[in-house]
Amino acid sequence: VSQRTLVLIKPDAVRRGLVGEILARLERKGLRIEEMRLRTMDADLADAHYADHVEKPFYPPLKEFMLSGPLVSLIVSGDESIPVIRALAGATDGRAAAPGTIRGDLSLSNRENLIHASDSEESAEREIKLWFG
Ligand code: CMP
Repeated sequence: VSQRTLVLIKPDAVRRGLVGEILARLERKGLRIEEMRLRTMDADLADAHYADHVEKPFYPPLKEFMLSGPLVSLIVSGDESIPVIRALAGATDGRAAAPGTIRGDLSLSNRENLIHASDSEESAEREIKLWFG
């Protein structure tokens, strides 16, 4: 079944010049870019996007990082795109993520992990509304 999901190419990826590399991996997989926008998050959007995490101890530095520069927001579609992109991204912690994944190949951090992708159909719907209205 085709799914639509929200992807963020995070500020660390923009700073490191990895936007093209990450987009290329999504495109080569056969996924389709439906919408794409470069923007800097603000505090309200961060709190809404990470509503499940705002109370966690890692949230303040995560928020500071996510606001630290421009990121690329995307709507991506394709067959089973939600689990497919999460598999391409790899485990949250770049140090533990498997080689061959975006984080496993390109990140050495639990926070600066290059990419966010919605984790379920419900969160994809919520996050697409939040980012693209
Ligand atoms: P993301 O998929 O955007 O969802 C929540 C984000 O919080 C995650 O990617 C990481 O960037 C960050 N994160 C999750 N767990 C931790 C942690 N234990 N320490 C620091 N950052 C974390």
